[in-house]
Amino acid sequence: MTAFTRLSVAAASHAVHPRFEAPVNVNESSDTFHRSRAIFCIVSIARTVLFDEFIDDCVRSGVDLVVNLAAGLDTRPYRMDLPRTLRWVDVDLPGILDYKEEILQGAEPVCRLERVRVDLADEAARRAAFARVADGSKRAAVVTEGLLIYLDAAQVASLAQDLRAVAPFESWIVDIASPGLLKMLSERGGQMIADAGAPFKFAPPEGPRFFEPLGWKPVRVASLLKTAARLKRLPLFLRLIAMLPERPPETAPDRPWSAVMRLDRA
Ligand SMILES: C[S@@+](CC[C@H](N)C(=O)[O-])C[C@H]1O[C@@H](n2cnc3c(N)ncnc32)[C@H](O)[C@@H]1O
Repeated sequence: MTAFTRLSVAAASHAVHPRFEAPVNVNESSDTFHRSRAIFCIVSIARTVLFDEFIDDCVRSGVDLVVNLAAGLDTRPYRMDLPRTLRWVDVDLPGILDYKEEILQGAEPVCRLERVRVDLADEAARRAAFARVADGSKRAAVVTEGLLIYLDAAQVASLAQDLRAVAPFESWIVDIASPGLLKMLSERGGQMIADAGAPFKFAPPEGPRFFEPLGWKPVRVASLLKTAARLKRLPLFLRLIAMLPERPPETAPDRPWSAVMRLDRA
């Protein structure tokens, strides 16, 4: 579904797919799957826009390297307005990067693009890959979009420590869900996702603060729901919910909440 959405969305702030020029009407379909898919698309649009904005901020602040972990079919180096001198490294498993290279044959990235094939679950291999990728960089931003939710808290903590150990990695842009949202997602489509072998796992009750003891300080947190409202993508019932004041996620972990955030090394 991520690939479907990724191909369809192509970033609401840039090249909007005609299908998404109007808000998705979730009332059009009474079927739970289609309604959930429509909401998933809305949320993915907001997530894409926020990652674009956060990456853009880091690039404008002068990072010379963006490392996109579990990059999948993301095409930001082709569609974002990036400096030609910026180094961008996509990291993913060999199969997905081979496929991506095949379908992007003939397309020109706007910056210096490299692809690194590594199994991120292999800690020794990923540490070696991080060191190689960071070599020559003074200031880098790491991106993990749509990845952490599939890891458990110990795996996220281990990844956080490995990233923290690489001096040029100064910012890390991630998406995060609350336990309440995880429960809702699991009830609505979780079985399908679990059957596909990738159950949702990571939703720390302490919210963004989860990362602080690991040496990563949340410096900017933007809610997906509020962003979808800003982008005028929400149906009425969600628009009303988006108007409610937001409580810090750690004080209301049972509420459905998700955000994109930038962590800086503390
Ligand atoms: C849900 S997708 C997210 C892709 C992309 N970041 C996006 O937002 O569209 C998860 C990605 O993680 C990659 N992935 C899963 N396990 C991995 C591993 N052990 N090592 C490297 N990449 C992995 C998959 O190949 C897939 O591209």
